Amino acid sequence: MRQAPNGFLAAMVDALGPDGVVTDSDVMAPHLVDWMRRYHGDAIAVLRPADTEDVVRAMRVCHRFGVAVVAQGGNTGLVGGSVGTPGSVVLSTSRLNHLGPVDEEASQITVGAGATLDAVHVTAAHAGLRFPVDLAARGSATIGGMVATNAGGLSVLRFGPMRAQIGGIEAVLADGSVISHLQGLIKDNTGYDLVGLLCGSEGTLAVITAVRLRLVPLDGPHLTLAVGVERLSAALTLLRNVRAAGVVVDSAELIRRRGVELVAAHVGKTPPTALLAPFTLLLAVVAGETVHDRLATALETLKPGELIDSLVAETEASARELWAWRERHTESISAHGIPVKLDVSLPISRLAEFEAGIDALVDRAHPGCDVHVFGHLGDGNLHVNVLGVDGSGGADWTRVEDTILRRVVELGGSISAEHGIGRMKAPWLHLNRSPAELSAMRAIKRALDPTAILNPGVILGVEAVEP
Ligand code: FAD
Ligand code: MLT
Ligand code: ZN
Repeated sequence: MRQAPNGFLAAMVDALGPDGVVTDSDVMAPHLVDWMRRYHGDAIAVLRPADTEDVVRAMRVCHRFGVAVVAQGGNTGLVGGSVGTPGSVVLSTSRLNHLGPVDEEASQITVGAGATLDAVHVTAAHAGLRFPVDLAARGSATIGGMVATNAGGLSVLRFGPMRAQIGGIEAVLADGSVISHLQGLIKDNTGYDLVGLLCGSEGTLAVITAVRLRLVPLDGPHLTLAVGVERLSAALTLLRNVRAAGVVVDSAELIRRRGVELVAAHVGKTPPTALLAPFTLLLAVVAGETVHDRLATALETLKPGELIDSLVAETEASARELWAWRERHTESISAHGIPVKLDVSLPISRLAEFEAGIDALVDRAHPGCDVHVFGHLGDGNLHVNVLGVDGSGGADWTRVEDTILRRVVELGGSISAEHGIGRMKAPWLHLNRSPAELSAMRAIKRALDPTAILNPGVILGVEAVEP
């Protein structure tokens, strides 16, 4: 472990008080390994600021001593961006977790960056409103982390990602200055969009301390439908026809039989037969008088032999059970080992082609692996998880990652749909971003963080501030 610069810890304790600075290695340990168990970090201390003023004081001290700062929310990120690096401090937002009140007139709420997604859902629902981003890590993922990664999740198809839900942000820059833009105005064209810039910045431009979120009305009941089909292209056709029939689709998720079997082994349950088709499209749609008829009409548009089975969840409990088969993919895969975990998006027209070739492609790069593909079909976003590659993060991993990411780009896709770049994908950012774009990004980084103390190595790699 790298030592703290002389006087740094004393200055930090002075700034945050003893409760705000953790150096006990047992308490620090969970902050220094990521959710996947792939990235093992290091840090001088974990900081626990209690409010924005604390973050300002902490940033001033770090700036003065040249100590790197890795902001951390729920530590559920999947690209290695949230664990400390040697000589850094981890700045945990766990105490910045204030909620509301809900502004019912504006349908908005201001929350601390450390508020969990779950807590925001519950608070919004109490006011008869809904925060429309949802993802399986809802119990731990924080609003600050979700803004910093521009998280997507299960309802992007209908409501857009985090970026679309933000009415404003308060954040502390590398030198301790505060930018606060929390009014939540619907229209506000006053120069550069700093709020938009911080969304997706993964802790490299500022520490987000509070967020103004937009809420939407609660819909009333949703209906969950699982449709087992022979081919991925049939799932896409069905989704298109369901939407064309005027059904409001909240989520449209894809799972494959292989993934369902893995979940079954992990949770010790037998899946419904509709989920044992080669592909299952799971739909959550807004219920209404004509919805069953419209869905039936859409199902009839499938070619003979394409539809294998379908199942409607009649109760809320059975809907939850169906969704668990999708949501528990991530933990079930992790229970079998540390996967090469990629999150990519493709033009809808190339999705089926990509999926059809993925097993053979991976097999050529590393024979004998177990490839799991699932994800947010309606967004063209597939999660590709490869189990069975030796030596976590080593040369074999890089070859598998490189092969898949290059194929994605060849088909016109993105190497990161929703998880971000982090440390994991920094070496491949150039596949999606031109030299001019990378140079503009470096210029922004230099302007806001000239000494590169904010999450070094993330997004732009270690040369972030080089000209
Ligand atoms: P962390 O993991 O703590 O941090 C993530 C990044 O944000 C890091 O770079 C960190 O430095 C930065 N950061 C954190 N807080 C701040 C802050 N206050 N200011 C500045 N930077 C900050 N993602 C999706 O998009 N869609 C999904 O469907 C989805 N499902 C998931 C399911 C599971 C089971 C898991 C484990 C993860 C899933 N994720 C998903 C990954 C996802 O990125 C996160 O869950 C979430 O966005 C990260 O929030 P966090 O608070 O855990 O952030
Ligand atoms: C999901 O949609 O479940 C996630 O983004 C997590 C993953 O990719 O494993
Ligand atoms: Zn996802």
